[in-house]
Amino acid sequence: MRTCLLLLTAAVVVTITVLCHIRSKASLGFATTLSSSVPSKPDFEKEIKPILSNRCQPCHFPGGKVYDRMPFDEPETITRLGTKLFTRIKDEKERDLIRQFLAN
Ligand code: HEC
Repeated sequence: MRTCLLLLTAAVVVTITVLCHIRSKASLGFATTLSSSVPSKPDFEKEIKPILSNRCQPCHFPGGKVYDRMPFDEPETITRLGTKLFTRIKDEKERDLIRQFLAN
């Protein structure tokens, strides 16, 4: 009888330990998914425009020859051109920022 009780207690302890372990793993996984799948939208003025004004002057900025058709100081131009911009922007970090901007 004693051994039986002892065994039962042991079984319960093991079950609880295993369950806790699975739960903590699951919630960790959930947290990482959340933070990586919902990046905040990059700010156009602070994060996107500087990339373009560093690289695409003077043509796509006021006074430039394609400013009338493709002004890069307006967020709409970026959403309209989308990944076409990547023909000229090769830096992966900059591309990622632009992708995030487009996705949101
Ligand atoms: C020396 C001037 C100049 C610079 C600098 C320049 N562009 Fe342009 N870009 C042009 C001209 C001119 C056109 C129009 C080509 C046409 O439609 O015939 C154009 C067109 C484009 C287009 C449209 C292409 C298409 O297929 O519709 C994209 C996208 C573009 N540029 C991106 C960029 C990006 C991004 C940069 C900076 C990394 C940049 N350009 C820098 C002159 C420039």
